[in-house]
Formats: sequence, structure tokens, C-alpha cells
Amino acid sequence: MFDLIRSALFRIDPERAHELTITALEWGLGPRDRLDDPLLATTIAGIQLPNPVGLAAGFDKDARVPGAMLRLGFGFVEVGTVTPRPQVGNAKPRIFRLVADKAVINRLGFNNGGVAAAVARLGAKRPTGVIGLNIGANKDSVDRVADYVAGTIAVRNVADYITVNISSPNTPGLRGLQDPGELTALIAAVLGEARRVPVFVKVAPDLDHDAIDGIARVALDGKVAGLIVSNTTLARPDVASPEGGGLSGAPLFAPSTEVLRAFARATGKALPLIGAGGVATGAHAYAKLRAGASAVQLYTGLVYGGPGTVGQIKIDLANLLRRDGFAAVADVVGLDA
Ligand code: FNR
Repeated sequence: MFDLIRSALFRIDPERAHELTITALEWGLGPRDRLDDPLLATTIAGIQLPNPVGLAAGFDKDARVPGAMLRLGFGFVEVGTVTPRPQVGNAKPRIFRLVADKAVINRLGFNNGGVAAAVARLGAKRPTGVIGLNIGANKDSVDRVADYVAGTIAVRNVADYITVNISSPNTPGLRGLQDPGELTALIAAVLGEARRVPVFVKVAPDLDHDAIDGIARVALDGKVAGLIVSNTTLARPDVASPEGGGLSGAPLFAPSTEVLRAFARATGKALPLIGAGGVATGAHAYAKLRAGASAVQLYTGLVYGGPGTVGQIKIDLANLLRRDGFAAVADVVGLDA
């Protein structure tokens, strides 16, 4: 069934295909898979998850279908990125499929309807399940820290966790917030308003060892709940595409897993990590956990594998854990770090 839908969707522009998918999910057309193997139940930063496989930010930027995505079998869903004011993003076309590479390049630039609209939508019909809110800064903002503080205040009553996204490559200068000085001030400002909601920081994969050590130190000192490793990459590992923007999917798996491992080492495994980048199979998820992640997220794998991907990842992950004699997800976290 998905093969038919996929070949139809792949014939139209990626952004239109995505909009159609979201609309279908709003109509309730998504499949259901919520009976999780008890082996997969786990916690991250005190948040209980039925399974460690989450939906990465960017799929449901405006909180239109979090319930549908939880029903699809995700253990948690991250909505956003949302910015304080609505913004249109970059000129179209701005999403590109690299089918042979099982990859995507996007330069959307935080197109979203604004944080207030997303929060109102969520508040009106809060689905059961873990929902994170990913916040960013407006492109034309004169005070980016103030944007993150405004986002935090806006989402803290509806979010199970907050993600501070400072790693989109499509908002000029945003990644500069990863510099230790700027990051220290940003974390202090956000945590000052987050109340009891855990705050994660989402980082880029394009970091050298000094940058990783710097971020790890600031994150530990600043008492963030954890890091999400990683966003899309500006590098082009083994892909030939002239398009600018962030690359996601299969080619991102190895580099993002290496950066994840480096963060696990740099933090002495003292900080919960969420692994994202190229996850499409149970073996990928297992490798991320072993490299140091307490949970994983995916987006591009869903584009190529369809809605059945989530259920298959969970079955295969549970089998891999059992095969190797483990009784819990937490038992493998960081074994290969
Ligand atoms: C993204 N991603 C993303 N991340 C984020 O923090 N905020 C966002 O708004 C978006 N938007 C977005 C749009 C599109 C079209 C894609 C493909 C990706 C990045 C995403 O959450 C994830 O970190 C990376 O894509 C790596 O995971 P996958 O896609 O390789 O599984």
C-alpha cells in the first residue's frame, strides 16, 4: 500500500507531498501501532517513554498531527521548530529528494505559523503521549536570546520537554549560538523560564573536537536535561547535489553517530543524549544507543520507508536487545562509546 502511495507522492514536489501527507494525517488516515514491547519502555531525563524511537523536529512544525504520529507508534514526538512570530521561510523550491542516496536536502528556513498558534492547537486537543516543543529564533530577530526566552515561556505549559534549536543551517548565524560564551548565556536565560520542564539543546553534526568539548562543558555546567545530536549537515559526504541546505538521511548516519559518540565521551555519559541522523532501521537505532544515545529520533527514514518504518524499527530493536542478552534499553546506552 505504501509503495503505491510513495510512488505517487514521489512524482510531485517534495513540499507539496509533505503538505498532502500532513493533511491526510489530519483527516485521521494514518495507521495505528501503539502496543509496545515492554522491553522498550525507558526513561530519558526523567521522562517516561513507551519506546525510545521519536519523531524528529521539522515533520510537524506547527503541531498539526502530534496525536497521529504518536498513534503511528513513536515513543515521543517533537513539534516545531516554532519561532515567536510566524515566518514564511526561504524561497521555493527548498526541499530536495536525493532518492538514490536515501537522503534529503532542505533549506526551509523555519517556515512556521508562530509559537502561539502551535501552542493553541496543542492546548485545544492535547494528545496522550510525550510531546516536545522545539523552539527557534526569527530570522530578522535583533535579540535571539530573547526569542528563545519568549518561546520557552509560550510552550512551558504544554511541553513535556523543550528543545533549544541552535543548529539549523538555514538561519544565517544561528549556529554561532553554539559558541561556549553565547551558549552559556542562552542556557541560563532559557532555564530561568523553563520552570520544571526539561530543556534539551540540539546541536549540529559539523563540529570539531574542541567545539564538542566546549558545548559538553557548558551543557553540564548549565544543567540542561540533555543534548540532541544532531541536526542536518552542511557537509556532502558521498552525495552529488548542487543544492544548498542541510543534508539528512542515510549519508548522515555515520558522521552524526561519530559526533554522538564524541559527545558521550566528552560528557562522561553524565548527560542524556538523543541520537538523530540517518536512522531507518532497528540496527541503526541500536547503534545510536550503543554509541551513547538514550533515545533516537528520525525524519528522513520515514520519507523513504513510510509509516511502517516505526513499527519495524521497534520490532528489530527489541530483537537485537534480546539477541545480545539485554533486558532494558538503558543497559546498552553508551556501551560502544
Ligand atoms: C529537518 N530538521 C529540523 N530540525 C529542527 O530542529 N527543526 C526543524 O524545523 C527541522 N526541519 C527539518 C525539515 C526537514 C525537511 C528535514 C529533512 C529535517 C532536522 C531533523 O529534525 C533531524 O535532526 C535531521 O533531519 C536528521 O535526522 P534524519 O532526518 O536523518 O532522520
